[in-house]
Amino acid sequence: MFAEMFALLGDAPIPIANSEYEARQSKLYQTLQDDDLLIICASPETIHSNDVHHPFRTQSNLLYLCGWTEPEAIFCAKHNGKKWESHLFVQPKDTLKEIWEGRRPGIEGAMADWPVDTAHSITDLNQILGKFIAESSRILHRMGVKSSVDDLVIDAIQRRDRARQRLGSGPISVEDPSNRIAEMRLIKSAAEIAQMQFASDVSSLAHTAAMRHGGVGSTENQLQSVIEGFFRYAGGSGWSYPSIVGSGENATILHYKENEQNCADGDVVLIDAGAEFRGYAADITRSWPNNGKFTDAQREIYQLVLDSQLAAIAECVVGNPYNAPHEAARKVLAKGLIRLGIIQQSLDEALHMETGELKDWYMHNTSHWIGLDVHDVGVYLPEGKPRLLESGMCLTVEPGLYFGAWRPDVVCPERYANIGIRIEDDILITDDGPVVLTAKCPKTIDEIESIVGIAL
Ligand code: GLY
Ligand code: MN
Ligand code: MN
Repeated sequence: MFAEMFALLGDAPIPIANSEYEARQSKLYQTLQDDDLLIICASPETIHSNDVHHPFRTQSNLLYLCGWTEPEAIFCAKHNGKKWESHLFVQPKDTLKEIWEGRRPGIEGAMADWPVDTAHSITDLNQILGKFIAESSRILHRMGVKSSVDDLVIDAIQRRDRARQRLGSGPISVEDPSNRIAEMRLIKSAAEIAQMQFASDVSSLAHTAAMRHGGVGSTENQLQSVIEGFFRYAGGSGWSYPSIVGSGENATILHYKENEQNCADGDVVLIDAGAEFRGYAADITRSWPNNGKFTDAQREIYQLVLDSQLAAIAECVVGNPYNAPHEAARKVLAKGLIRLGIIQQSLDEALHMETGELKDWYMHNTSHWIGLDVHDVGVYLPEGKPRLLESGMCLTVEPGLYFGAWRPDVVCPERYANIGIRIEDDILITDDGPVVLTAKCPKTIDEIESIVGIAL
């Protein structure tokens, strides 16, 4: 069923090289002092039911620094007096566990194939990491991720506090390293962009597959299965966030998650779904009439949102503040809603953050960073001022209009009742202008009308 779509997908990129991970580690070490200890913990596994876990997905900073994906892992780095050395604590090889749960690289595999100097068994954590902590003055560790490591750090602080009274040594201070790593993650390398391009291509084809399957009589859950089925068929690890598949009034709920209604004839279907590939996210929204033909009212709103999105994408240029796309989208939307008679205020009034009516129909931001996390890390307002866009940053552009006739807080214009439109693409900032990573996903009215319901 997916073969035709799959044939349109190029080859997967080569994985990120160990030399690139090592270069990231070195760059981070340059921001540290020699008596610092860096600790990055994998996320804990979480329970789905009884003894069944949710599929494991590790902490993105750990992925970023060494590419290790297994649970119960801890990356740390310390200076040995001559140079920085990296350590990775991993689950040791264990034949019985591997028979039940799957193969493990273990200590030997980690040392042979991953970008770390030394690997240890996680069972030796307390002894080895406890010693590292005791030898350090500042611990760069995010508290609250792994309680056993928090306990080691707190225990060392308490011991040092007591020693300070007796010997004058100490103290240990603790700092969250997340912002330092976020600054690095904000700018994507060529190898990262290749992974993101592939995640975007897979997602674009998955949306196209859903449009083709579309048609009257389908259900939200069937469309979800087509999208997510293609993510896996094409080699993605799955979704990068739970898929939103809403038809009719469900398309006006921003993070709708039930995905189980029938799509009625003529409803707009809004699908916000993206694949994850080697940890990197794509995030695409497309909105289309399930019978393949926009009504005049749907067309008016769709074209307005598309115009606002194109205006926003045009602002994705080096040197612009990160919120320039948002302001551009807001302006186009507000003008359009005034023209359509939905807003009676002046343009300035409509755009006002508290009293403007634009926010009745467009109530979210236009962009977020995207990368290893779908809502990727990176401070938007460093020192209180909007960050300026730089080459290598990636962000989404996702304006929308939502006319929920079910809402008690507004009077929805009857002509547009229950039309929910969002159009979302992922943009790479370059010196030559914006690159739409998700450009393979159809979005003009003509493209959509020619694709919806033509069958897979
Ligand atoms: N899928 C959530 C978002 O677009 O941010
Ligand atoms: Mn998004
Ligand atoms: Mn999205």
